[in-house]
Amino acid sequence: MSTDIGQIDAASCPSGGQPPFTLADPAVILDRSKHYRYLREHNPVYFDETLQLWIVSRYEDVNRVLLDWETFSLEKGYHKYWGQGYLDELIAILERDGGGYIPDIISVDPPKHQRIRRLLDGAFSPRRLKLLEESFTASTAQLIEKIANRGHCDGMADIATPMTVNFMMGQVGLKDVDPAQIKLWSDAYQAQYSRMQTHEQMLVNAQRICELQHFTFALVRERMAHPGEDMISDLIRAELDDEANPKLSFNEIVGLTRTLLIGGNDSISTGLANMFVLIATDDAVAKQYYASAEDERKLIRFVEEAIRVTSPVRALTRITNCEVELGGVMIPADAHLMILYGSSNEDESAFACPMDFDPERRNIGQHLAFGAGIHRCVGLALVRMEIKVVLREMAKRMTNIRLGVPVDKLKWMPSVTMTMMEELPLIYDRRS
Ligand code: HEM
Repeated sequence: MSTDIGQIDAASCPSGGQPPFTLADPAVILDRSKHYRYLREHNPVYFDETLQLWIVSRYEDVNRVLLDWETFSLEKGYHKYWGQGYLDELIAILERDGGGYIPDIISVDPPKHQRIRRLLDGAFSPRRLKLLEESFTASTAQLIEKIANRGHCDGMADIATPMTVNFMMGQVGLKDVDPAQIKLWSDAYQAQYSRMQTHEQMLVNAQRICELQHFTFALVRERMAHPGEDMISDLIRAELDDEANPKLSFNEIVGLTRTLLIGGNDSISTGLANMFVLIATDDAVAKQYYASAEDERKLIRFVEEAIRVTSPVRALTRITNCEVELGGVMIPADAHLMILYGSSNEDESAFACPMDFDPERRNIGQHLAFGAGIHRCVGLALVRMEIKVVLREMAKRMTNIRLGVPVDKLKWMPSVTMTMMEELPLIYDRRS
């Protein structure tokens, strides 16, 4: 269904009813901001019949859901959402061919959540981040140098994906793994959240997740035998503040290793690619980018504003534990909510002139792109650093970055939760 919402009389769409489009519509993916604005104005909280989800789009409501974990369960939302209607079949395939079903153990509610979260926070220590920044700057410089003279590249396959995977490999201490292989596994895992996966695709993805699991089992076993200076070894060594259960089990380490391996890959590469599009298509943003790249403070603010504007994770889910009123609408218990981070970050009641790219805005840190409350992204310091390094090293070697195809010819992957591209043709000049 695709409707020109510019033609619709607002009065004919009372709040609480259905908007004249569904978020699963490819037209919405192409022009999200317009549709999000429509939702915030007319249907801030409503039930989407196609997705069978309650959609929440205003900043205030999204923030409330994120902070109130007692009413809005992440754990139940994860289990209901993952696998997209094929969960039983997917679990059966994982048990038959993949060594078992190992759910994401950080996607749980308190009290289980604290136990795991404390551990993960420890793995992202400032010391480890500092070490990673040094090695990541060197590998990024090398990669960008290789393509800088060429004048054109695929922003996904040549920069965003290898950068992100290289980084993750450094973090977990992996060598000699093909980034394309990790990308295939990440995409298969990510598709379970996409809300747009067909049954046929699920069968292909299930086999890829089985491969990923076998790879992870072998990796964790190897690291148990030969611990080193990396995040997986940190998890193996970790002592928990829990007398009855002081160590992580094998499956818990496997689940967390998988999170480290692929959890943030898609989000970072999606974020980077969307930032490249922004720089390539908006002269004002490009001007600010080239002017900020050599100034650490300005670049950090540029990155933060770019994260707000691109919101790489556009939406995730929760389940209500009881009947609750949200945004003036009564939602029943056990309702499945989709909260739109992307829309909340464009809400004019939270951000003045939200569509303006303004790295100097006063409340720059209040965006919800990393979530909020107890589940706020554990990798956010890492993400900020990684994006900063990539943008800085690119600006040192490239200028006049633009799209190699008209913007309406970019190929977007079908997903309600992420804004990923299949490829991103870029052209640029070598900076002298
Ligand atoms: C641009 C990149 C990223 C974005 C936009 C992002 C966004 C988010 C968001 C919105 C959440 C909250 C989920 C919720 O409330 O349901 C989250 C949680 C999380 N993120 Fe990220 N993320 C990124 C990269 C990463 C990376 C690189 C890692 C790890 C290497 C990571 C690990 C996690 C984990 C483990 C959680 C769950 C935390 C918890 O439940 O306590 N993320 N992220």
